[in-house]
Amino acid sequence: MLGRLNHVAIAVPSLEQGIRTYRDVLGAKVSRPQAEPAHGVTVVFVELPNTKIELLEPLGDASPIKGFLDKNPSGGIHHVCYEVADIIAARDRLKAEGARILGDGEPRIGAHGKPVLFLHPKDFSGTLVELEQA
Ligand code: CO
Repeated sequence: MLGRLNHVAIAVPSLEQGIRTYRDVLGAKVSRPQAEPAHGVTVVFVELPNTKIELLEPLGDASPIKGFLDKNPSGGIHHVCYEVADIIAARDRLKAEGARILGDGEPRIGAHGKPVLFLHPKDFSGTLVELEQA
């Protein structure tokens, strides 16, 4: 069911500082910041040869990563994103296995313009998992 590792997401208190670290210190290619009001975050993608790093900064007071940053003030790994060929088939299989899908269980359009779902960390070794239809 699982395809490629699409990205690892890191929550950061300051996107500007995160960009500086990845672009200027580590010498990576970093995309332009993209506001995602529907997800309560502003994101950039760091392009690596085999995957991406997604840097997330809270957007708005109701940002879903605000609580995470309150607990991890210097930032931290927030989720991993795996590609699947068919997100509805993946969701239905996971539900049948007893895994919990976050939200209303319907895929939403993610930062790449593709359908995504998030899975409950308690069902996946304490890791928030995002599935993206490739
Ligand atoms: Co993501």
